[in-house]
Amino acid sequence: MSATGDQTPGATHGPGDPDVPAKARPNVVLGVGGGIAAYKVCDLLRRLTESGHSVRVVPTAAALEFVGAATWAALSGQPVTADPFDNVQEVPHVRIGKAAELVVVAPATANLIAKAAHGLADDLLTNTLLTARCPILFAAAMHTEMWEHPATQANVATLRSRGITVLDPAVGRLTGADTGRGRLPEPSEIFAISQLMLADEAARAAGQSVADLTGKHVLISAGGTREHLDPVRYLGNSSSGKQGYALARIAAARGAKVTLVAANSELPDPAGVQVVPVTSTRDLYDEITGRAGDADAIVMAAAPADFRPVDVAEHKIKKTSDGSVPAVSLVQNPDILQTISHDRRRADQVIVGFAAETGDAEHDVLELGRAKLERKGCDLLVVNDVSGGKVFGSDNNEAVILDREGNALPVPSGSKDALAGVIWNLVATHWH
Ligand code: CTP
Repeated sequence: MSATGDQTPGATHGPGDPDVPAKARPNVVLGVGGGIAAYKVCDLLRRLTESGHSVRVVPTAAALEFVGAATWAALSGQPVTADPFDNVQEVPHVRIGKAAELVVVAPATANLIAKAAHGLADDLLTNTLLTARCPILFAAAMHTEMWEHPATQANVATLRSRGITVLDPAVGRLTGADTGRGRLPEPSEIFAISQLMLADEAARAAGQSVADLTGKHVLISAGGTREHLDPVRYLGNSSSGKQGYALARIAAARGAKVTLVAANSELPDPAGVQVVPVTSTRDLYDEITGRAGDADAIVMAAAPADFRPVDVAEHKIKKTSDGSVPAVSLVQNPDILQTISHDRRRADQVIVGFAAETGDAEHDVLELGRAKLERKGCDLLVVNDVSGGKVFGSDNNEAVILDREGNALPVPSGSKDALAGVIWNLVATHWH
């Protein structure tokens, strides 16, 4: 995706901030293209209206074949037409675009992308795209062949060169029985990116830096690994993956190329991020060490299992009639963070670890964190106090970030997106 800029935590109130009164939220134009994924955009529309945006839906004629005008009008509370000659006295082909503070196009079909790239204006949506002067987000969805076609790729490159954010389609099941790259990114993710773009605009207006990770490749791990005992049982942990996904989402929004190695997470793929699924710590080790050489920054937000069973039963282990239980012998897994930190391939690479600590009888959480930073050899260590089940699965996080110079930056309780923003701010200081 193209750069969308800085998401500095603690910045002044702006769009996307729950404290901002609903009517202060920017006007959004939601352009809907003619693809089967149009029905999913009803969910995106709801998210936008429920968070207080006034949303004008502008479908193409083809989009109305999939979802009718009555649905869009009922959900948005505004009139809906694809035709610039409806209510022509109000000059809608100019007025709607000029009033927009964000345009989101979803699904952005190959046809719509081509028209926008070439400046065609033969319906209300394409007219609106030419008159809007606000940030524009295209969420692409089409068949894999259409997406990969050189014509589409050239048109996407043209849009990006003009500063338009184009989200690549996600990988998964397509309209027919086939699978591949082509699905609309999840509405929750399109919504999240739209809010980050609006926050960027606010930051830009306030003279803050934006898109500071452009040109950087970041590698992130997330989730909890599983170590199988037999085909149905495993040793695992309760990491949800939310912090790693937030890091990926924010890095992508700040312009980075992002690879997310995800262990057993149920979360939707963050838009514009390459997601590599893994199961065990050894899978994660292979993917991270194999990709480390290309990465400007690596953030190990995953909770890899430290041990695995020596033997994995080929069939499900059965109960015995005499009540005896199987003995499980464990062996230690490789330490990924320590390996990549001690075996750095690039001098300017920034490596970030997380430490989930509960403290013990002799040491507090920070003492254990400092010892871990030293032992692991990473540049930054984000220390979470997880005593009493804090953090796991929650939407909020509170941490202290330790660096090699002995600094300790406390990050007060806030969203995982906000903590991700602080982490990227610190990583970026190593490069600028
Ligand atoms: N980590 C890793 N490989 C492992 C275990 C952990 O790369 N086999 C990484 C985690 O992703 C995290 C950091 O190391 O970034 C610290 O994880 P944590 O579970 O707190 O530490 P452990 O190494 O497991 O140390 P201990 O359990 O002894 O505290």
